[in-house]
This record gives sequence, structure tokens and C-alpha cells, in this order.
Amino acid sequence: MNVLLINGSPHEKGCTYTALAEVAAQLERHGIQTRFFHIGNRPMRGCLACGRCKDGFCAFDDDGAVECAKLMREADGIVVGSPVYYAGPNGVLTSLLDRVFFCGSSWLVNKPAAVVVSARRGGASATYDRLLKYFMKTSMPIVTSQYWNSVHGMTPEDVRQDKEGLQTMRTLANNMAWLLKCIDHAKGVIPLPENEPWTPTNFIR
Ligand SMILES: Cc1cc2nc3c(=O)[nH]c(=O)nc-3n(C[C@H](O)[C@H](O)[C@H](O)COP(=O)(O)O)c2cc1C
Repeated sequence: MNVLLINGSPHEKGCTYTALAEVAAQLERHGIQTRFFHIGNRPMRGCLACGRCKDGFCAFDDDGAVECAKLMREADGIVVGSPVYYAGPNGVLTSLLDRVFFCGSSWLVNKPAAVVVSARRGGASATYDRLLKYFMKTSMPIVTSQYWNSVHGMTPEDVRQDKEGLQTMRTLANNMAWLLKCIDHAKGVIPLPENEPWTPTNFIR
């Protein structure tokens, strides 16, 4: 079993990473492999609504979005991390996620996922809610913790002092490990839900 942790901050080893690393270390204690994808500081186009998604992936494969999507498809579980920017996620991250989710709902369905956010001071809860919307729309089981999954800090050292935030990260990892093991155990015993074909209604009369 393996979990992909997406660091949606331009800072490779910043606050978001520090929170994600706590989740990863605890997952590893449960025998679950972890892998990081760092969004970095490369330019990332948004969804062009071109409708040219191909085989579950965005048609534009030149900026890391498809690379990330392929890692997400391989993973048994996903943790998306973001710094808080103006009480929302990093726009570069939402550009990537729009493109992954618009094309990839067929392979994302039923995959457990969680959000982790890092704020200096405010806006963590709004950012958390915004990112959860991707999973809620895609029939993905959401993994929670003992509190909303956030840490506070301007620097990684600040985050390391946020003892409750780090505990929240470890509890999240415990819950993710438990759910992944339950799903693995149920393979071949309990069938996946059978959903009806989508009947879109666009409210055009
Ligand atoms: C453009 C920008 C906007 C930000 N807006 C907020 C904000 O609304 N609330 C907040 O608490 N921190 C805000 N911050 C601070 C970062 O969210 C915070 O320091 C975070 O922990 C940085 O994580 P990182 O080291 O992983 O990039 C902002 C930072 C930037 C660069």
C-alpha cells in the first residue's frame, strides 16, 4: 500500500512539507509506503475547458499536471497539502487539481484522500473546505482527524512548535492507515459500490 503526498507550496521544505512529513512518518510506522510530489514554482496552466481530456488525463502534458495525475492514479491514498493564500489554497495547486479531477474522476473514485493546510494565522478552515470539495464531488472517502487538518507557522520551526497541529497530522495518518487496511482486507469480499450512469442536468429549460 502506498500514499502520495502532494506539497502544494512553492517551498519544497517549508511549513506545508513539515506537516506532510509528519503524516508520512506516521504512515511509514504503519508499514505504508509514502511518496511526495512537489508542485514547485513552475508555471501551471489552468483548465482550458477544451474537452480534450484523453484516457483520463489532461491533454497538456508539459507542466507537471499529468505527471502528478499519474502518481495519484498509482497511489492507494492521497494527501493534498497547501499553504493558505488569502484564506484559500495556492492557486497553482487548484489549477493542477482542476485539470486532474476534471479528467480523472473514473480512476479517482473510491480512493481515500485527505487535505492538510498550513497558515501563518487565519483562513485555514476555509482553505480546508475548498480543497475537500474535489473529493466530495468524486466519491472519494475523506480521511479526517481529531481536528481540522491544519498547522500554523511562517517557518518549519514554527510548525514544529505547533504540538497540537502535529498530533492532528499523526492522528490523520493513523486513520488513513486504518482505512487503507480495511479496504485492502475487503478486496474480493465486499464489492465496490455500483453507481448509476451519470445523468447530468444543466438547468437549461
Ligand atoms: C500570497 C500569500 C498569501 C498568504 N495568505 C495568508 C492568509 O490568508 N492567512 C495566513 O494565515 N497566512 C497566509 N500566508 C502565509 C502562509 O500561508 C504560511 O506562512 C504558510 O505556512 C506557508 O507555508 P509554506 O512554507 O509551505 O509555503 C500567505 C502567504 C503568501 C505568500
